[in-house]
Amino acid sequence: MHGIFSDRITDVPRSFIREILKVTVDESIISFAGGLPNRDLFPVNEIKTATNKVLDLFGSDVLQYSSSEGFLGLREWIAKRYKTKKNIDVDPDDILITAGSQQGLDLLGKTILNDGDDVVIEEPGYLGAIQAFSLYKPTFHPIPLENDGVDIKKFEKAVRNHNIKLFYCVPNFHNPAGISYTLEKRKAIADIVRGTNTIIIEDDPYGELRFLGSEQPSFYKIIPENTVLLGSFSKIVVPSFRIGWIVARKEVMEKLIIAKQASDLHTNYFGQRIIHQLLTDYSIDDHIETIRKAYGSQRDVMVEAIEAYFPKDIQYTKPEGGMFLWVTLPEGVSAVQVFNEAIARKVAFVPGDPFYINKKGVNTLRLNFSCTNEDMTRQGIQRLGEVITSRLI
Ligand SMILES: Cc1ncc(COP(=O)(O)O)c(C=O)c1O
Repeated sequence: MHGIFSDRITDVPRSFIREILKVTVDESIISFAGGLPNRDLFPVNEIKTATNKVLDLFGSDVLQYSSSEGFLGLREWIAKRYKTKKNIDVDPDDILITAGSQQGLDLLGKTILNDGDDVVIEEPGYLGAIQAFSLYKPTFHPIPLENDGVDIKKFEKAVRNHNIKLFYCVPNFHNPAGISYTLEKRKAIADIVRGTNTIIIEDDPYGELRFLGSEQPSFYKIIPENTVLLGSFSKIVVPSFRIGWIVARKEVMEKLIIAKQASDLHTNYFGQRIIHQLLTDYSIDDHIETIRKAYGSQRDVMVEAIEAYFPKDIQYTKPEGGMFLWVTLPEGVSAVQVFNEAIARKVAFVPGDPFYINKKGVNTLRLNFSCTNEDMTRQGIQRLGEVITSRLI
């Protein structure tokens, strides 16, 4: 088999998180490692009703091939929601329905990147984006994340000194870092990018899951001419349908549609129709409120447990929404080593390493709080606190 694979795929490592999740399938392990929405909150019966309804009402129509752009009714629903919730003007024709926002990342890489092109990513950054863009062989410029967004001086230097094609960011409830960009930082980034060819890829799968603080305007609102916005139903309805979307201006959209056609003709049409029926008949706002309340109290339990059981000099982010919290151990303590000891104590998390480009043995780690109940969270954080404490002695 030697020599049969493309350089493109050979150079991209397997997802480290998938390897870690394999270790955590053991049910006796308390896992803060996953990045999954809480299945107990999935609207199972409502999806069943919506599925029967689209078949009863539309029959074979919803089982046929459809347009590459995606179901117009669903694109209209998304456009209307941007208007009513965020006061952003989006035309349904500016929306492409994708197989999750993950496909949006791949299509953007395919559409925009040539080998060696300069891409700014956050450090730490979303692993799925690093993996998706890596296939197009860019030169990554990782910029450290602070509590309010990327380090602005380093960001400015990168944009001024290189021909940065893409700046990829998760400005709300970052995965993995748990932070959100402040308005000041959003504006400062927009000022630096304005007038350049840099496209901000604003990946926003968690934006609706806010349980604290106040909403900040989207880059798509502040600087629409330079922004492509990604959204998803994975965290507000269910991930299994694989339905997300890209919002982009016309000239980018035309190319994305070509990439989409070449990739899969169109996103699962039956799934789009079921989601649309669900959104039509059922209050998504009530559902999102339920998720927010649940994740908000799960986050509080985790923060309280960290306060109680972690050594006092451990730093961690206190997210205002989303599903993740980011821990920084003292300098020199390897999160991978802590992971190996934690697994022996039957508790798991994701060591920070895979969220960096070419960094190993880092002292950071990601904790997910959306899938564990109060007792599990307390017990798991207590055990983790003991492991960390023993490392510091
Ligand atoms: C920041 C970020 N972007 C994109 C995705 C992919 O989401 P989707 O299910 O819409 O493909 C995830 C999933 O965890 C994510 O955390």
